[in-house]
Amino acid sequence: MAYEHFLRGGAFIGGQWSQAEDRTEFPVVNPATGEEIARVANCGRQETAQAIGAAVRAQREWSALPAKKRAGVLRAWHDLLIANQEPLARLLTAEQGKPLAEARGEIAYGASYIEWFAEEAKRINGDVIPAPSGDKRAICLKQPVGVVACITPWNFPNAMLARKIAPALAAGCAVVCKPANETPLSAFALAALAEDAGVPAGVISVLCGRTEEIGRELTSSKSVRKLTFTGSTAVGKKLMSDCAGSVKRMSMELGGNAPFIVFDDADIDAAVTGLMASKFRNAGQTCVCANRILVQDGVYDEFSSKLVRAVQNLKVGDGMEDGVGVGPLISEKAVEKVSGLIEDACEKGAKVLYAGASASGPCFVNPTVLEDVSADMRVFTDEIFGPVAPLARFATEDEAIRIANDTDYGLASYVYTRDMARIWRIGESLEYGMVGVNEGIISNEAAPFGGVKESGFGREGSKYGLDDYLELKYMCIGGIDK
Ligand code: SIN
Repeated sequence: MAYEHFLRGGAFIGGQWSQAEDRTEFPVVNPATGEEIARVANCGRQETAQAIGAAVRAQREWSALPAKKRAGVLRAWHDLLIANQEPLARLLTAEQGKPLAEARGEIAYGASYIEWFAEEAKRINGDVIPAPSGDKRAICLKQPVGVVACITPWNFPNAMLARKIAPALAAGCAVVCKPANETPLSAFALAALAEDAGVPAGVISVLCGRTEEIGRELTSSKSVRKLTFTGSTAVGKKLMSDCAGSVKRMSMELGGNAPFIVFDDADIDAAVTGLMASKFRNAGQTCVCANRILVQDGVYDEFSSKLVRAVQNLKVGDGMEDGVGVGPLISEKAVEKVSGLIEDACEKGAKVLYAGASASGPCFVNPTVLEDVSADMRVFTDEIFGPVAPLARFATEDEAIRIANDTDYGLASYVYTRDMARIWRIGESLEYGMVGVNEGIISNEAAPFGGVKESGFGREGSKYGLDDYLELKYMCIGGIDK
């Protein structure tokens, strides 16, 4: 089936495909070719309020369904995603740009969260607590938090939304989703397949358009009881303050500045392979990408020359073409930002060890390796979000830990060493929510994904992922003694 089958304009509100009240639309553009691939309803306050109203009505019945029934619907949704993996992947590459092989991987990755939470839906167990006095019993119920607003980014248009909707629905919540305006089509495809799988009208709504207006309505509404957001730390902070007025539950998956530490005793070939996977996945546009590559003196020369050879082999181009490993960035603005970071580093003394040839087109950036990078450069302090690998040397383990933790971020971190004692020491010392040891790709549905410090709070996936969508209710039952 061609991906055009899943091309939808409009917005999906309360189980209906509809237009914005004022009939305005905006284009969705393929970043590799500049071609317009669809036009989407330019929604705002009014449409958001409709979606929230539909969610409030739908949630009562959805949460009242036996968990096994909700699990069955989620399972059917997962199966439909897998059955349509190829067209969904092509749609994703068309709107986002990532290589088709990665897009196929993302569809399976998104579906894995739906499968996981279909299983977890049946295990939302409460507790019976031994009461301190004999005539009472204490019980803890777990209940859905209520209507959830999901705001998601353009870098993983399928998986970031799937891993929010799946636990929400498993818990018995209804959702109103605002995907990024750059990549709404994969979100609409998810909603269409959810409807086919039997998700009742109103349980999932998806709309895009006037981002600030939609955001204001979602954050100020008293009917929305939780907001879950993946995106930049700056926007996360704004949403947190906007949610304060209605005291909402929140989960924040925010930016990262991952250190990638290679010790003298590491398997250098494995470290280069791990770095290539971590750094160049999605052209470097992931929050968990290696951002600062710290290499110990004794292996620096070997590591950097092997890395350059590996980067030389990267093919840059339209993600639909065979063999492409690095696609375009999402926009020309993103290219300007990444080019600015390279310029800033070079002005402050960094050297370009390698700058590959890029495909033609305004959204492409050459894969670049920089060395002699230091803490005063923006490549070291900012989230790069592009195919740029900045290298710096270190001498001792203490120095590596100090540099690694010297950031406001705390999402992912990576370390390559064969010393088991060091693995424990450094794993415990790194101030990050996730640590990859001798591994560059660490995310999966069974593991808790999330950060500390200004990388946010809350965890997605794993046995902990449902907690963010559940309220605890304590019931004290008295008069038990005869
Ligand atoms: C992200 O960039 O935030 C998501 C990456 C992942 O799930 O591995």
